Amino acid sequence: MIGLIFGPPGSGKGTQASRIENEFKMRHLSTGEILRAEAAHGSEVGKEAARIMAAGDLVPDLLIERIVERRLRRAGPDARVLLDGFPRTLEQARALDELLAKLGRKVDFVVALDVPESTLVDRLLHRAAVEGRADDTREAIMERMHEYHRRTEPVLDYFRTRGVPLVEVDGRGEVGEVFDRVRGSLRRVLGRSPANTGL
Ligand code: AP5
Ligand code: MG
Repeated sequence: MIGLIFGPPGSGKGTQASRIENEFKMRHLSTGEILRAEAAHGSEVGKEAARIMAAGDLVPDLLIERIVERRLRRAGPDARVLLDGFPRTLEQARALDELLAKLGRKVDFVVALDVPESTLVDRLLHRAAVEGRADDTREAIMERMHEYHRRTEPVLDYFRTRGVPLVEVDGRGEVGEVFDRVRGSLRRVLGRSPANTGL
């Protein structure tokens, strides 16, 4: 099973993904986390990615497509993977479909989190004070929002028009409350509860 968790910066993709991972026995693959690990490692690719990320821009499609391809192949044909932060452009969405077709797989569902922009900014500025993530400055947050609307939002329609099961979830409120909605919607879309799938 391949699922996507989708939403603007700060919508709770990572937070909800770790709960989905436990509940639906999936492996969470966050391209942002992979890039931050590369950056911390100090490789040439990591240094270049760190510069782009700190400005709130998107790293080149080909770079991220190669990373995801390697990870999906390594995960194996039966792996249950939840992609977070990918695909983020139409080019990446097409590349993912091509790759999955080669692997005899497909995107089985998309969970899209919906949160008003003022809440997103508040959450990210709060995280800046607590964790100091390099791209949580006010300027980089604005650029991330801009890139999300310009390049990432159209990806949702790409999957919608292809008939991929899509659940749009209100991402406001407590983490647990949001997860209750995610879990309920996902169970409906997948047609059975995890208890009935032998998990
Ligand atoms: P990425 O790491 O994917 O960041 P993002 O999309 O900007 O989103 P965040 O990780 O900040 O937020 P999130 O939605 O995961 O929410 P979270 O759970 O953390 O990408 C970073 C950068 O990497 C990109 O800008 C780009 O440069 C590069 N990149 C990555 N993938 C790429 C790709 N495919 N192509 C090109 N470039 C790529 O929550 C946010 C905060 O809110 C946390 O502090 C959390 O504790 C809190 N929170 C969560 N839920 C709630 C809640 N319900 N109530 C209150 N607080 C909450
Ligand atoms: Mg995240």
